[in-house]
Amino acid sequence: MDVFEAIRTRRSVRKFKPDPVEEEKIAKILEAATWAPNHGLTQPWRFFVLTGEGRRPLGRLFRELRRREMADPDTPENQEILRREEEKPFKAPVVIVVAVEPKDEPGVIPQEERSAVSAAVQNMLLAAHALGLGAKWKTGKRAYHPYVARFFGLSDRAEIVGFIDVGYPREVPPPPPRDPYTVYTKWISEDLPYDRVPPLARKEETDADGEGSSPVRATVLGGGISSTADEEE
Ligand SMILES: Cc1cc2nc3c(=O)[nH]c(=O)nc-3n(C[C@H](O)[C@H](O)[C@H](O)COP(=O)(O)O)c2cc1C
Repeated sequence: MDVFEAIRTRRSVRKFKPDPVEEEKIAKILEAATWAPNHGLTQPWRFFVLTGEGRRPLGRLFRELRRREMADPDTPENQEILRREEEKPFKAPVVIVVAVEPKDEPGVIPQEERSAVSAAVQNMLLAAHALGLGAKWKTGKRAYHPYVARFFGLSDRAEIVGFIDVGYPREVPPPPPRDPYTVYTKWISEDLPYDRVPPLARKEETDADGEGSSPVRATVLGGGISSTADEEE
């Protein structure tokens, strides 16, 4: 499949067939992830592939976290909510938990580690699509609960980037509409007169990134990008 076609036709699949997914296909998806760009080759991604009853411990964890939020977990309504919580990882035959484990070394910027893992997830979604599989990137507040990364044996600095459902699609949703890129894009092809850009207000701002006190001016171009395409037309 051509890369542009893969990008355009990939969808977040929400309904899966129960059919198992071949291990070789999961391996290809994971290998695609590892070819994502990563600053300093830190390879900050960590993967946990859950299948069959291997999805159960995560379901039980979701259930327990939800139970702790309830005043009375024993009411029939709450019992039903808890049952559904435990079933969440069972919506797809495979759940790949993707986490970032930021390298603990001077100069490594945590945001960049997360960016690299996000790029890896997109590779995974595209690879799954190219292999005839469906996938969905899920997060929600469970992903950000500090205990969840530790549950997978990761450090206190690690975070879950997504729970990736993978399986053969039972239903592929229609593409949600996208605005044309022109709405969010400004082409800059000429130098800008120095007096058109607002100066940085205080020296501390230029020092914040350790770059020293050179008379840097912020390049806020013509008020930034507007939320309508009017200017482009
Ligand atoms: C960081 C991130 C988290 C997401 N979390 C969820 C989620 O928890 N549940 C969900 O249904 N979709 C989730 N999605 C998928 C988006 O809802 C989906 O990409 C969007 O609706 C556009 O649909 P498409 O992927 O088919 O183009 C997430 C996407 C991203 C990038």
